Amino acid sequence: MQNTDIYKLYQESPYKSIKHSTYFDSYNHFFSRYRNQNITFVEIGVLHGGSLFMWRNYFGPKARIIGIDLNPNAKKWEEHGFEIHIGSQSNIKFWEEFTRKVGLIDVVLDDGGHTYEQQIITTECLLSSMNDGGIILIEDTHTSYISGFGPKSKSFIEYTKMLIDKINMRFKDFSDYQSERRVWSIEVVESMVAFKINKKASNLKSEPTDNGGIDDLAQDFRYVDNPKMVFVNKLIRHFGFIKRIPFTRALADGIQTFVANSRFNANRYFK
Ligand SMILES: C[S@@+](CC[C@H](N)C(=O)[O-])C[C@H]1O[C@@H](n2cnc3c(N)ncnc32)[C@H](O)[C@@H]1O
Repeated sequence: MQNTDIYKLYQESPYKSIKHSTYFDSYNHFFSRYRNQNITFVEIGVLHGGSLFMWRNYFGPKARIIGIDLNPNAKKWEEHGFEIHIGSQSNIKFWEEFTRKVGLIDVVLDDGGHTYEQQIITTECLLSSMNDGGIILIEDTHTSYISGFGPKSKSFIEYTKMLIDKINMRFKDFSDYQSERRVWSIEVVESMVAFKINKKASNLKSEPTDNGGIDDLAQDFRYVDNPKMVFVNKLIRHFGFIKRIPFTRALADGIQTFVANSRFNANRYFK
């Protein structure tokens, strides 16, 4: 942590900033590729202003640094060359006006109020206003495990898990309606969730491909270490009609699933 530029800039900021000790390595990991670029950076949560100075020195003079806070006092940081917007991150109307004025954004850091409502609405309202290659980093996501930040069954981490499911719904066999096409990938570190934007990759059609190489007729050994499965598969292959009749096919699928599942002692990995 102490070796990172970002930590040094945090220490050097003339005004107070409050960050957890583990965050500096994570900031560096997620943000270093945006340094010295022509980017628009938005931090939600200004408080004493110290982090704005840190970000300006971290991203360099080409970056547009924007702060958002509900507290109108934050406006005073405009004198120091920052763009400040006053409003609530849980207000959809605020975000509509904000994105209309500001245009496309490259990097978002949410260090606002940390309720699930604020974190989820911020993510939802900003996803379609991100430049390709951009990132939304929501911090203090440990609030998902703490009382007082909203209903735990609809916490920010539960929302993140739902988006993970929806990213996987991009696979060809699943419902396109359920799939997530705004977020390319999600990366989780302690107390932070990063949503990365890659529009082309998120909208690729999922279909099987083959490189046209020589087929040496290798056998797939997926079930070979499960003797019961080998037996069931042999039986099904032997009685070819089983898979042709809907009722026996459903029965055979059920037996295959049961035999495959019964082998795996999953409980020891889910504690
Ligand atoms: C944790 S502090 C920000 C700390 C600052 N980023 C730093 O590094 O020192 C949280 C800030 O979020 C602001 N805030 C809380 N709820 C908000 C909301 N609904 N919309 C916008 N800002 C909010 C608070 O006024 C406070 O200034």
